[in-house]
Amino acid sequence: MSVTNGAAEGYSHLIGEHPLIQKITQLVRKVATTDATILIMGESGTGKELIARAVHALSPRVDRPFIPVNCGAIPAELLESEMFGHERGAFTGAIGQRAGMFQLANGGTIFLDEVGEMSATLQVKLLRVLQDREIRPVGADRVFKVDVRVLAASNKDLAAEVEEGNFREDLFYRLQVIPIVMPPLRERRSDIPLLTSHFLEKHNRKRSGRPARIAEEAMVHLWEYDWPGNVRELENLLERLVILSEDGLIGVEHLPPSMRSFISEKKIPRPTLGEDGLDLNTAVEEFENRLIEEALRRTKGNKQAAARLLGLKRTTLVAKLRRRRGTDADDEQEVSE
Ligand SMILES: Nc1ncnc2c1ncn2[C@@H]1O[C@H](COP(=O)(O)OP(=O)(O)OP(=O)(O)O)[C@@H](O)[C@H]1O
Ligand SMILES: [Mg+2]
Repeated sequence: MSVTNGAAEGYSHLIGEHPLIQKITQLVRKVATTDATILIMGESGTGKELIARAVHALSPRVDRPFIPVNCGAIPAELLESEMFGHERGAFTGAIGQRAGMFQLANGGTIFLDEVGEMSATLQVKLLRVLQDREIRPVGADRVFKVDVRVLAASNKDLAAEVEEGNFREDLFYRLQVIPIVMPPLRERRSDIPLLTSHFLEKHNRKRSGRPARIAEEAMVHLWEYDWPGNVRELENLLERLVILSEDGLIGVEHLPPSMRSFISEKKIPRPTLGEDGLDLNTAVEEFENRLIEEALRRTKGNKQAAARLLGLKRTTLVAKLRRRRGTDADDEQEVSE
């Protein structure tokens, strides 16, 4: 499913068919039309900004500005005037009067990225803006009404930051009227092939010559990898591989060594005979199950092909599956994560 609306600048489609993403897509559609404040949380590269842009693009504010403010990148002493503007002479260097991001976003949406980085003083000021919908520029003796929809994002667990006393609890609740938690890519591996084709196509389009495609075995590696940098890491890797691919086929040998060693270490940890010994039957069964699962995954659930990979007859594999699951193994084998 994808949220489509190309009207907003810099907005691109949210790709994903995993139930977690579909749920988020539905939620985005529902809340986009309101003015509710949204707090988007998730690891780096999971698509938090993409969601914020989608909300704006699907909202009635689409023709008004979308203003992103990276609260983590702007020095604390400048952030207040960046956000709310300042009067002439408000501080050293404040030569003229200047509008802040909230004024620029008037009628539109402001996106407070890395909101967890905001200083305690500024947190109080932001809370007041959210309550009263008015801002006070630095050095001004009066306030101004603003009509701005506020979206915020954080890759920190803000609830934990509240626990630790680093983030105001009242502000946290004001921000997360609608909370959206972006799942890490490793928790929705079934979207990896889809995202891979999307990014391959996107980056193939940018260059001439034979379009790059990915070998089956390399795809298995992409599936198995844990992606600490999430979708951004996947896109960056594919962009690089497309540029470097010569004969058009991206194989395992083209993947970064760190990824290849991650996979070989991850695969089938060997059971060891510890101090207390081990249960041989259970260990053998686990070992067998892992290999069967891997074979099914690699063959996208095709039992005939999986049996071939394992040097078994199809009927033997089916019997093993039936025993393992205690169900009718002729049901379609689901390729799960
Ligand atoms: N579901 C998705 N479909 C398509 N592209 C995606 C998806 N999720 C993320 N991307 C792409 O991955 C990149 C990173 O996404 P984005 O900048 O929204 O992540 P982020 O959560 O804001 O990361 P950070 O915390 O590092 O700022 C962008 O180029 C974005 O377009
Ligand atoms: Mg971001």
